[in-house]
Amino acid sequence: MAVSFYLNGAPVSVDAPDPRLLLIDFLRSTEVDLKGAKKGCGQGGCGACTVILSEWDSEANQANHRSINSCLRPVCSLNGFSITTIEGTGGAKRLPPEHAVQSLSASRAGAIFGTESTPELKATHQHAAATRESAVQNGARRKHTGTAEASASHTIDPSVNPVAYRLAVNNGSQCGYCSTGFVMNMSAFLANHSKPTKKDIEEAFDGNICRCTGYRPILTAMKTFAVDWSAADEANRMPINLDEQLKAQDVGDAVTIPFADAAKASPEPVKVSGADRLWLMPRTVAELIKMYREHRNDDLYLLHANTAFGVYREDFLRSKTLVDIRFLDELNGISHDDATLSIGAGATYTELLDYLKAMTLEEWTPLGALQYMAHRTAGTVVRNAATIGGNTMLVLKHIANGEPFPSDLFTTLAALDAQIELVDLDSSDTRVLTAAQLVATCEEAPNLADRILLTRYRVPLRAIGAVTQAHKVALRDINAHSIVNATTVLQVDPDLNVSDAVLTFGGIAPYPWRATKTQAQLVGRPLSLEGFDSISATLADEIEAERARWSKRLADVGNDGFTLAYRIQLATAYVYKALVAALLQHAPDKVPESIRSAARPTWGHWPVSAGSQHYKRRPGPSMAPVSEPYVKLMALYQTSGQVKYTHEIDVPPKTLQAAFVQSKRALADFCFKHPETGVAPITAEALAENLAERFPSLVRLVTHEDIPLHGVKNLGMGGDQPVFAERRVSYVGQSIALIVGRHETETDEIAAFVSEHCIDYRPVDWAPEWVAPVLTLPDAIQRGSVFPDYPESAPFVSHIWKIIRKDSEFGWTTPDKNPLAKDIVVRDAKLDAAPCKIVESTQSCGGQIHFYMETQ
Ligand code: FES
Ligand code: FES
Repeated sequence: MAVSFYLNGAPVSVDAPDPRLLLIDFLRSTEVDLKGAKKGCGQGGCGACTVILSEWDSEANQANHRSINSCLRPVCSLNGFSITTIEGTGGAKRLPPEHAVQSLSASRAGAIFGTESTPELKATHQHAAATRESAVQNGARRKHTGTAEASASHTIDPSVNPVAYRLAVNNGSQCGYCSTGFVMNMSAFLANHSKPTKKDIEEAFDGNICRCTGYRPILTAMKTFAVDWSAADEANRMPINLDEQLKAQDVGDAVTIPFADAAKASPEPVKVSGADRLWLMPRTVAELIKMYREHRNDDLYLLHANTAFGVYREDFLRSKTLVDIRFLDELNGISHDDATLSIGAGATYTELLDYLKAMTLEEWTPLGALQYMAHRTAGTVVRNAATIGGNTMLVLKHIANGEPFPSDLFTTLAALDAQIELVDLDSSDTRVLTAAQLVATCEEAPNLADRILLTRYRVPLRAIGAVTQAHKVALRDINAHSIVNATTVLQVDPDLNVSDAVLTFGGIAPYPWRATKTQAQLVGRPLSLEGFDSISATLADEIEAERARWSKRLADVGNDGFTLAYRIQLATAYVYKALVAALLQHAPDKVPESIRSAARPTWGHWPVSAGSQHYKRRPGPSMAPVSEPYVKLMALYQTSGQVKYTHEIDVPPKTLQAAFVQSKRALADFCFKHPETGVAPITAEALAENLAERFPSLVRLVTHEDIPLHGVKNLGMGGDQPVFAERRVSYVGQSIALIVGRHETETDEIAAFVSEHCIDYRPVDWAPEWVAPVLTLPDAIQRGSVFPDYPESAPFVSHIWKIIRKDSEFGWTTPDKNPLAKDIVVRDAKLDAAPCKIVESTQSCGGQIHFYMETQ
């Protein structure tokens, strides 16, 4: 069956797509050719792939727009939805030719301007240009006439997306790879917030990252849309030179998101059989139970928006039957009364946050804690799609296997004794369990997680007097998994004794774990910090015992360098903060000023960020354009998705794809091995035959044997880096072979398979001191492991590790000084007969890692 949806206002129908096909790969395929959305990380972490998903809200009689990650969203899930890419929101006009002067340099002279391309390439360029133009035109028509269909035959002069314009003219793009993601997130945000403040805008960007521009100019550009953007802000904006051509592209601040009238119809479920996978969409729980019974042995996988793909992609990829549960009414809605908050398992994080925001909560209340944790989960774009139930399922499915999931929200739900309603798809029974009971049941019977449907959460609103706090420490303030999280609830009686205590932690066990002994020690005690040492000792013992209980299960799970001692410190700090917070609520006089900050919530309480750039224009034209703040020519094309990066250059439809097989070892001898039997060595030819049976889309396995006799075998600045390793690898990631295939994702998959299962590594026969890795520069110098200067293999002067200026005078230096000695020696000497003091030492500077989006 075909999947039908609207793309930039126009209907599209994809016949029986592979259920694993993701929207980003569909958009960027040669057939569709919309390359404005970028694939930065492919796991929901960077926001470069952001597009807008829209659906008709018949109650509100308007379209709902939200930004989503196209890298997580399967095409099969889109039936009836509308998708808008950057192309559908506008396009920049071409600047007149005098602006587009480019001269070829010797190193970039691969193609000669004006060279005739092949008919296939010409057709490809035309196809790409036409697809883009049609997407831009649809958006432009809707902006001018309100409908794309009415005037489809007229060409409209398009205008650029106003967000793209502001981003460009505020110097908010450098490589531009993240820019369209920022623009699309802001476009959806503006559609939902007619009067945003600077703070609102800043918060909306917790799911988009930029690795080169820096956030000040990006946020400045976005904040120019804020209602509180002031004259002072405007005066503080970086000065820019705008020529008439650029100014003419400014079209105000209204973003148009195309939405076809026909898209107002209620969406229908689809059933898709693609490749060897099945996509199902039940309308009712009864239908789901039936599907479960028919396909329970086919790796059944329930999903709603598939944001879990960003964390556990294999769970999605290996499942043969994918069941989209978005049509199940039981999963919808959020409501509350005096005693309970009821949340449908299919509610998104954004829906929950909007609901809680409208309730105006104190942070130390149960719902305040829930709000805090929901807000600290992922980033805006992921939260727009991720569901509460899906998040819990990540925990339940990985209690017994794989990397445990330290859900923030589930820790709070467990601490609050939330009741969770579920349906057992095997028995059709409906059950209600607390979070703790659910976890215990899944620990006992891990496959339960594969056969349940979570439908609803009921969160009890605890009695007045309980001080609830949510705690989280992660590598980043936002968009990062917790190292340890917690939710603490301290109930205090009128005599200021602790009458009840709940201390629930994530990141200790593979589920929210309660420190019951520490809880027991707290209950009945006066609310005080006295004796905290003994409480923290109990907590440390308890955590150590719990970790020991899980040591076998967690032995193969990486810890990112976070020691048990550090986890204990975090947990201890949370309990201390909880006590100070409870004291502040119930006996503020007893809390000295010096420790009050321990309880003060800080996350999210920062002021709106601000920055200024001090820019000096040089008088006179002599330095221009260097001294003038011109907006760079590419900026507008980058922010409106019109730039083609190297891997986006149009290629004919039958172009093959290639992916490297890379070494997983730093130093080893290697050979190919049979993926099933493990027999080694086998020839490249034998391996290729085996792979061809397994992967029909494989075209060729290329190794060093394929390089012709006099072909180039080595590359790199020293001319000493093998194109393909032969027999030995000397670093992780070294290329061993190249997989040539028909489709990008499959080719990547084959290369990953060969890297993982088809390479046999053996230790090298070197002396032990050379097998030990050299990890630092001082180590390399000490062991004499330094490349020779100017190796003969190098095509030009390279491997320079020492620079000595001609005619340098060394008489005053200490000969043979150990370059690693960092001690400072001060001595008297004479230079050119003048007495002077010489201060001698060694200075070193560290390296810096720069993560480029584009090359990812
Ligand atoms: Fe989708 Fe990075 S590519 S979030
Ligand atoms: Fe943002 Fe380069 S401009 S990643």
